[in-house]
Amino acid sequence: MIHRTLFPRSSWPRSCLSSSSFSKLGGGCHGDASRAVSSMPEPCRSSPFSDDESRDIDWDSLGFGLLPTDYMYVMKCSEDENFERGQLSRYGNIELSPAAGVLNYGQGLFEGLKAYRKEDGGLLLFRPHDNALRMRTGAERMCMPSPSVEQFVDAVKQTAIANRRWVPPSGKGSLYLRPLLVGTGPVLGLAPAPEYTFLVYASPVRNYFKEDSGALNLYVETKFDRASRGGTGGVKTISNYAPALKAITRAKSRGFSDVLYLDSVNKRTLEEVSSCNIFLVKGNVISTPATSGTILPGVTRKSVIDIARNRGYEVEERAIDMDELSDAREVFCTGTAVGVAPVGSITCLDKRIEYQTGAGTTCQELYSTLVGIQTGTTEDKIGWTVEIS
Ligand code: COI
Repeated sequence: MIHRTLFPRSSWPRSCLSSSSFSKLGGGCHGDASRAVSSMPEPCRSSPFSDDESRDIDWDSLGFGLLPTDYMYVMKCSEDENFERGQLSRYGNIELSPAAGVLNYGQGLFEGLKAYRKEDGGLLLFRPHDNALRMRTGAERMCMPSPSVEQFVDAVKQTAIANRRWVPPSGKGSLYLRPLLVGTGPVLGLAPAPEYTFLVYASPVRNYFKEDSGALNLYVETKFDRASRGGTGGVKTISNYAPALKAITRAKSRGFSDVLYLDSVNKRTLEEVSSCNIFLVKGNVISTPATSGTILPGVTRKSVIDIARNRGYEVEERAIDMDELSDAREVFCTGTAVGVAPVGSITCLDKRIEYQTGAGTTCQELYSTLVGIQTGTTEDKIGWTVEIS
């Protein structure tokens, strides 16, 4: 159990206590936003908590559920499409106009990355610049201004450091950081919002999937599509995710872990799982669907590709016909939340194909190398990790 009451509200610094006194934030990126109503909790610049104050948290009970932490980072976009200096504030609800672009037209993006605790207590971020760049690409597609790479990375660092007591001990999970970029200005007709907010919050997490055996049982979705040509499947817009809920819910009710999507035109080639990318292993060859617009270019995906090539595997990024599922020895998924997860079986209609999992698999080899780099136990020769404290 997590003992939230260990950190009573009375121990918060005075500047953080006035959560009822919201400041009205005006300004806009695309015109007059003087009527924008979007306010945030008061800023707070330093954390009153030490790492010692996390010692009673039961890290072993962590899954992938929201456990609110102490601080979030908020930065607004000014009229000239530049983001103002952001700041940390106490984690809490935000106030939005009912007409906010994100609420009405889904104008929003999110990212996901993790902070890991090293054995010596230090903290590492994994490839934050890549998430920053992906947000910039997504923002361009969604007609939004976006923070610079430096602003993004600085915000993520500040959020991780301010919440450092929530970074689990080495080997017990990580602190998941969730940057959001959303249209917070009011808009009635379909148009870009007049004001934007970049926000980063955090939650300690461990395994994304609850599967006891660790291996996923996927169902090939033949009715619903995840993305279509010319759509937004290749960027991390919030609007890619709610439409996946129907298929996931149905698959879970039938005992599956998640669904595997096919291309929306021919329903033949593999795309991705709702929350992660997919890889097939056959002999020394690892194949994964190419990122040609409908598939999310995962940071874990490209890290695993590099690690595999470096370890002597041949990696192909190409269109993969669903018939190839029958020839694979192993299948695994990759994602920030998911990590590198073995797939035990894939079912398409009535046909179930089983895969090798466990000790000695390629999946395990790639997983341990990746986790070693992320947590600082394996030397990071490529410079993927960023030490933040
Ligand atoms: C992530 O892996 O960080 C994601 O954003 C996937 C999400 C469905 C949890």
